[in-house]
Amino acid sequence: MENSIFEIIKSRRSIRKYKEKSVDREKIDKCLEAARLAPSAENVQPWRFIVLDDPELKNRFAEKVFTGIYSPTKFAGKAPVIIVMLARLDILANRIGKQIQGIHYYFIDVGIAGEHLALQAQELGLGTCWIGWFNPRKARKFLKIPKGYKIVSLMSLGYPAEEKSTVEKRHTFDKVVWYNGFKRNDK
Ligand SMILES: Cc1cc2nc3c(=O)[nH]c(=O)nc-3n(C[C@H](O)[C@H](O)[C@H](O)COP(=O)(O)O)c2cc1C
Repeated sequence: MENSIFEIIKSRRSIRKYKEKSVDREKIDKCLEAARLAPSAENVQPWRFIVLDDPELKNRFAEKVFTGIYSPTKFAGKAPVIIVMLARLDILANRIGKQIQGIHYYFIDVGIAGEHLALQAQELGLGTCWIGWFNPRKARKFLKIPKGYKIVSLMSLGYPAEEKSTVEKRHTFDKVVWYNGFKRNDK
């Protein structure tokens, strides 16, 4: 029961303090394998992952992208691993999806893959934090990302150095779940 998917989901919290201990490539790869197996619209698998686990390189990256208004995210630079989550943009199915449905499916796809990664990390005793608050221009420049790719998010990864209670405050079930039609209870 301990490791049921629901227990893993309930125990995952954003971790913002990490031990200095490095993370074995084997474990990082298992998290990325979980991400690789995620579903995607039309199975286009638009995700790409750049793993920064070289301490010197990762620190230089963090110094660039977590400055100025992005300083509140400096904690992520202390994680032993930062994963840069990219989407390929030149995928026909995604362009059609945007034109007809008005939805950028690559955001959904990378979101699912990223959460697979986070939940697999949780199962391995690792902590993660999604990082949307970083300097995207400096990140692109530092990593020499060519046109046709978008950095959707970063994710910090490492052994937690903080204890967190399960499940951050969430909206009540009734507020977010409506059976059989829209309910006007959204305040
Ligand atoms: C797409 C996305 C971007 C996020 N960006 C940041 C961020 O830049 N900095 C940060 O401290 N937390 C970030 N978070 C973490 C959220 O603040 C966190 O998931 C939320 O407060 C719920 O807390 P929990 O993850 O501990 O359950 C992000 C989460 C998501 C899903």
